[in-house]
Amino acid sequence: MSRPEAAAVAEYILPRDETERDRLEVQHRLIVSLYDGDVVLPVYKPSPGDHILDCGTGTGIWILELAKSYPSSVTFTGIDISSHHFPSAPPSNTSFEVRSILNIPDEWKNKFSLVHQRLLILGLKAEHWPTTLQIIHRITKPGGCIQLGELGKVISGPATARLESMNSAWFSKHGFLRDCVERIPSMLEALGFVDIDVRKVLMPVGRWAGQKGVLGQNNFMRSYKGALKRGFLRDGGYGVIRNEAEMDALLEAVKQEWDVTEGSGVEYFTFVARKPKTE
Ligand SMILES: C[S@@+](CC[C@H](N)C(=O)[O-])C[C@H]1O[C@@H](n2cnc3c(N)ncnc32)[C@H](O)[C@@H]1O
Repeated sequence: MSRPEAAAVAEYILPRDETERDRLEVQHRLIVSLYDGDVVLPVYKPSPGDHILDCGTGTGIWILELAKSYPSSVTFTGIDISSHHFPSAPPSNTSFEVRSILNIPDEWKNKFSLVHQRLLILGLKAEHWPTTLQIIHRITKPGGCIQLGELGKVISGPATARLESMNSAWFSKHGFLRDCVERIPSMLEALGFVDIDVRKVLMPVGRWAGQKGVLGQNNFMRSYKGALKRGFLRDGGYGVIRNEAEMDALLEAVKQEWDVTEGSGVEYFTFVARKPKTE
């Protein structure tokens, strides 16, 4: 493994196990269902011979799903700092590489008709966001499109607000951008992207929203329990909790709050934009 990828793997906090694989796949289905089944928003239409890139591909589910419905002359590349979750028998017009988005070869300049990146909020440090978007701009073909997806605020009641205050403190101490969704549009505009469109939806969490809400709740609780909880405790709880028992009690209170508070959910943003044909 080359150095940029090794460094990124060392800093990445979400797990690399089968539970995380399942979580990513359920999350994919939840997100797509919130956009009426659209894996790609209708601004992009595939043409024969197009190249498509998925940055931080994880299990590659986004690519695998599109590959089923796109012409076989369209080729897909998925990159990730780890191959752990890569699919074992992907179709022949897809390929998966261990590569950081911050380590892209020169020959990819202007190559991709569509560049997709989803849920890198815990992968990219604040200082890496402008560089990442600059790289995405460089490798998008003139006239091509990008689609980014990221999480916004968690909406519910007072227990959730306490958890979110600890979350925000953890993000800023460790150099991540909790509010990346607020900043992405102006960064895209500054790079020269046009037709920037932001589509915000609420991923419901809790029993009030039926089966979808229960799946959403499990999805986010897994990230808190499987990774963030350890980080909060290691940092002393940011004045919100003092020990593991208090942490677990807060997570239980949040879960119950989500179950009974109609409208509880996590904001999810999709950003689409186009690189002009001539600049
Ligand atoms: C939360 S997962 C999302 C996976 C996938 N995009 C999805 O939506 O199902 C984030 C992925 O980004 C990868 N990642 C983190 N930092 C990265 C970087 N600098 N370059 C490429 N991938 C990165 C992680 O290894 C992980 O697989």
